[in-house]
Amino acid sequence: MKFENSLLFARQLDKQDPLKSYRNLFHIPAKNGKEFIYLCGNSLGLQPKAVEKQLKIELDDWRKLGVEGHLHAKRPWLYYHHFFSKSIAKLIGAKEDEVVVMNQLTVNLNLMLISFYRPNGKRNKILVEANEFPSDFYAIEQQIKLHGLNPEECIIEALPREGEVTLRTEDIVAKIEQNKDELALVMFSAVNYYTGQLFDCAEIGRTCQRLGINYGLDLAHAIGNVELKLDDWGVDFATWCSYKYLNSGPGGVSGVFVNNKHAKNFDLPRLAGWWGNDEKTRFKMPKHFAPQPGAAGWQISNAPVLSMAAHKASLEIFDKAGMKALRKKSELLTGYLEFLLKQKSSAHGASFNLITPVNKKDRGCQLSIQTKANGKKLFEKITKAGVIADWREPDVIRVAPVPLYNRFEEVWRFVNLLN
Ligand SMILES: Cc1ncc(COP(=O)(O)O)c(C=O)c1O
Repeated sequence: MKFENSLLFARQLDKQDPLKSYRNLFHIPAKNGKEFIYLCGNSLGLQPKAVEKQLKIELDDWRKLGVEGHLHAKRPWLYYHHFFSKSIAKLIGAKEDEVVVMNQLTVNLNLMLISFYRPNGKRNKILVEANEFPSDFYAIEQQIKLHGLNPEECIIEALPREGEVTLRTEDIVAKIEQNKDELALVMFSAVNYYTGQLFDCAEIGRTCQRLGINYGLDLAHAIGNVELKLDDWGVDFATWCSYKYLNSGPGGVSGVFVNNKHAKNFDLPRLAGWWGNDEKTRFKMPKHFAPQPGAAGWQISNAPVLSMAAHKASLEIFDKAGMKALRKKSELLTGYLEFLLKQKSSAHGASFNLITPVNKKDRGCQLSIQTKANGKKLFEKITKAGVIADWREPDVIRVAPVPLYNRFEEVWRFVNLLN
């Protein structure tokens, strides 16, 4: 599409948008009756209006039934985690028994590393992307130490080439091949939190499979943002959070994917608790742990029903909209943002760089704007003018127009404010 830099054109795009009605399903933050331009769905997604109703269902059942709600609530709490598998499996390209909703992201990453980072002799290294999110890095470092090994020797970073910010697929593949006899695990994000780069997970997966190396993914910035095909990509395990693009509320519940090839591998070391035990015998209170097959066998504790009710409200929206349509709009919306930013940058003597890949197949909805002088001041000014975005040290403003609730007009207004 040939874009134009005008409010009229942006409004025209909104008018033609087949998903435009979805914005009405969300609460848009506002002050004194004026809506903010919310471009921060990469950090915390907005509240679906249906959250209140879903929460009320559980609060009412709790009030009326007490403990009986475990079996007799409208959605019996005992089986609560089952109610999410279909929607999540669809979002990530997996089978229903390969996913379970539970815990928080870094907790789940630790659980997955316990099972899938199994150093063996000189095969004891983990390949990670440069600029990995710190929480993931901390988990990896500690897991290596738990094996009595030295993180400095066991972590290999895939780095961008000199003068570049993002990683090239051929360099990642080459790094895996160079270290193939020493790698126990390749642990990457699908979308990097800082640059917004969407990695070629299919190619990385093929390489790992060919060389017999476990492949783990952090989907925090990818789930609900881009189309994912974990089974096709041969991913061994993955985890994510639900408070970003999945709009399920601050600290919302996470989930894991475990490839079915590991479903019945009960010899894999794992942490245990009664919720991971075979459902048929769980309440017979057996003395020894007998894990369920599939991802559900990695559960430890019973489901946090109240926070998961919010997740339910949000996933119903994704079921209705579908990732294909969302991604189609997202590419257009972010493409329009990129077009306007590039125009602005050349008109103002390149006062900022976009560090996110230019090719839409290599990114999700987020663009990372690397500011030059006075970046923090610019960020504070746009915040004052009613934009909610986020600042990442030392010099990056991340903006993420989300296809479920952002408008083309907002994108246009945001770039206009950069004056
Ligand atoms: C890539 C990534 N990993 C880990 C985390 C930490 O998540 P949690 O606090 O849910 O463990 C975040 C949070 O934003 C993240 O973006």
